[in-house]
Amino acid sequence: MSHPQPLRIGVIGAGGIMRAAHLPGWQQVPGARIVAVCDLDRGTAERFATESAVPADKIYSDVQAMLDGNELDAVDICTPNRAHTPQVLAALERGLHVLCEKPLATTTAEVRQMQAAAASAKKILMTAQNHRFSAISRGIRKFVETDGLGEVYHARIHAVRRNWLPVKPTFIVDAISGGGPCMDIGVHALDLGLWLMGFPDPVRVSGTTKVNFAKGHGIPGGWGEWDRNRFDVEDFASGFVHFANGATLVLEASWLQHQLEKEDFSAQLFGRKAMVKWPSGDLATVIGGSLIDAKVQEVSGLKPSHQEEIFAFVDAIRSGKPSPVPVEQTLKVIAILEAIVESGRQGREIVLPTAN
Ligand SMILES: NC(=O)c1ccc[n+]([C@@H]2O[C@H](COP(=O)([O-])OP(=O)(O)OC[C@H]3O[C@@H](n4cnc5c(N)ncnc54)[C@H](O)[C@@H]3O)[C@@H](O)[C@H]2O)c1
Repeated sequence: MSHPQPLRIGVIGAGGIMRAAHLPGWQQVPGARIVAVCDLDRGTAERFATESAVPADKIYSDVQAMLDGNELDAVDICTPNRAHTPQVLAALERGLHVLCEKPLATTTAEVRQMQAAAASAKKILMTAQNHRFSAISRGIRKFVETDGLGEVYHARIHAVRRNWLPVKPTFIVDAISGGGPCMDIGVHALDLGLWLMGFPDPVRVSGTTKVNFAKGHGIPGGWGEWDRNRFDVEDFASGFVHFANGATLVLEASWLQHQLEKEDFSAQLFGRKAMVKWPSGDLATVIGGSLIDAKVQEVSGLKPSHQEEIFAFVDAIRSGKPSPVPVEQTLKVIAILEAIVESGRQGREIVLPTAN
């Protein structure tokens, strides 16, 4: 029986999403071992080391020290958004494969830097867009790829919550997060929508960002209180995108607003043959002149999305396949989000440079 190629993983950022989703993912990969952990917070790193059987002398608070002191094959980065770029670049510089949480970076300039570094290192750089790997996402994608929708002319992307504002400074202070709901949850739904559309080239974007509720006490936060003085990102963003193929997309992202749903996290694709909604799989079409409501089915046999995401990263490393979430695609996602913010700031439509 052949043994899988051993993989030595360094973890950077051992907080919420690492412990809840990435660690259980790594624990399911035969031949992969987390050999070192780096976190600015010593207590967090120690707790993680205990949970993941990392020896005490392999706990770091400095990324470069971890990279210098260990033979690694890849790193998994789960630090706050603004910390990603230097860490991704340092790991690529060392010749390591990189899995990094979303948003990969909060500016296109940084994504381009990473793109160049990954190309020159010839290593996998993958944004952790876990929603692409869920059973329903795979089912809908298969349906779209087999021309189930016909030509897609419009997408409606929602990442809107009634009162779920993440309270940590890592999300609400721009110097750490690089943006509000646009970069936090908009990035997920937008990536998913663009992936289902086959990543057309965005050419023009108008948008706006606002702080409607987060500075006051009008809507009670479901995750408790936050520091209103330090809050300096948007709590609402909306944007309208034109693509080179003539399609359009509308995006809404918010953490706090008067709405009926606790959360509406969805992508609707409107095609000439049918409309499909993610993640419900709801389908609207016409057959023989009759209006038909139907449902796209999940792909069966898949593990939860974060697990499948890590499997895909490992498979790309071991088989020499391209990144399962190519950085060229991440660049389009970040270009749109950046342009929404910039459009709001400048009060005009932003024309994007030709893609890539
Ligand atoms: N895909 C998803 O479903 C999902 C969900 C939540 C968060 N995220 C993303 O994951 C990332 C982390 O979010 P989180 O909720 O786990 O945050 P968190 O605050 O719970 O954890 C981040 C950890 O990084 C550490 N850290 C901060 N700066 C560091 C640095 N410079 N070097 C080393 N360690 C550092 C902190 O001490 C903390 O332990 C963010 O980019 C976020 O957008 C993704």
